[in-house]
Amino acid sequence: MNWWEGELLKVKGNRLLLENQPAETIAKKYGTPLYVYSRKQILRNFQALKEAFASAKPGLEVRIAYAMKANPHRGILKLLLKEGCWVDAVSPAEIETAINSGFPENRIMFTGTSISQEDFEQVLRQTGVTVNIDAYEQIDLLFAARKRLRVKGPVRVSVRWNPGLGRGFCSKTTTAGERSSDGTPIKFGVDDSRVVETFKKLKQLSFRPVGLHQHLGSGWTEEDFPVAIKAVDRMIKKARELKRAGFDLEFLDFGGGFGPKYKADQRLFPVPEYAAYILDKVENSKLGIKAIVVEPGKYLVAEAGVLLVKVEYLKKSYGNLFACVNAGTYNTVPRPAIYEEAYHEIVNASCVNTRQKAKITVVGHLCETGDVFGVERLMPCPKRGQILAVLMAGAYCRTMASNFNLRKIPKEILL
Ligand SMILES: Cc1ncc(COP(=O)(O)O)c(C=O)c1O
Repeated sequence: MNWWEGELLKVKGNRLLLENQPAETIAKKYGTPLYVYSRKQILRNFQALKEAFASAKPGLEVRIAYAMKANPHRGILKLLLKEGCWVDAVSPAEIETAINSGFPENRIMFTGTSISQEDFEQVLRQTGVTVNIDAYEQIDLLFAARKRLRVKGPVRVSVRWNPGLGRGFCSKTTTAGERSSDGTPIKFGVDDSRVVETFKKLKQLSFRPVGLHQHLGSGWTEEDFPVAIKAVDRMIKKARELKRAGFDLEFLDFGGGFGPKYKADQRLFPVPEYAAYILDKVENSKLGIKAIVVEPGKYLVAEAGVLLVKVEYLKKSYGNLFACVNAGTYNTVPRPAIYEEAYHEIVNASCVNTRQKAKITVVGHLCETGDVFGVERLMPCPKRGQILAVLMAGAYCRTMASNFNLRKIPKEILL
């Protein structure tokens, strides 16, 4: 069995099946390039996460807030809504999409960075949304927005703090700490030393501070576990400091970040151990916390999506062998073009497990050297017209795709 087989992907007679239908048949029916998403795989991932937190004691609610930036497909939002999910939204348009997909305002949390007063005005039109402040300096803008809209009832707010350590699969996806591994100063969250002051100011302006939030970064593997639990300890310590300052928090939000398996040799982040650690620390903290929140994106949807592309021809040049496909990375699966470290497995849908392999560089139709889906992959040599599946395309692919070279962004189907 191949490491990537699951609810969405199976192999039968050397052919790739997507939820039991041949990938080639789906490609023929809908055309390529095409994103294909799987309800079954999303549900399985959601259940696995729920089970990880199943031992929470009565009285402690566990909220799973889907980071919809990963994939705001309406069908996926509706599916997760039915399962009892909350939503982590990062722009007014994401809030609008969540509401149009049926999410009640009180299951939406807004976490914005570099936010304008106009953004806050749009957010506050939905009075049930919890507003997660990313900077002390945002408070004046939020206050001005509330005043302009003449919001009557209490506005629920929380504070995203930067616990001073972060972790992501690469520098660009590390979202806490002082600087990223490439030296970039990290823009997110309120500095440790200003958290209490931020809560005090919110209270003074009659906002209702209800929670503390952190998000360390995206794409954790097993080796990130020690940092993740250290950050849990820091969160509890900070919540204790807030309690001493008179703030009884309703929830602690530990963000997202736990990655699914992108590569055969990647060791998975131990989600059950992480969940157990959070539950233990929160339940024994005597802080009276009523809810804990996690905000997964990738974990729920990455492996639930593939991109199907067609091989137009094979090209030889200076000893290199290229499979030239009818899609561009920037318009479909842009992660390898954006992040040097990103990897997406590529499977030949017509001859998945053929023993004889060649070293193939899979390239797209964009005018850019970086338009490469995979470099020198050892795989069954594709033939003209065959379908390749680019795996793990359910998260941060369609949503990060552009019209570079005026190429279209592909259609999506949800099986
Ligand atoms: C605030 C916040 N929460 C959650 C996430 C989800 O991260 P992931 O998809 O790695 O779980 C992100 C993504 O960057 C984020 O910025």
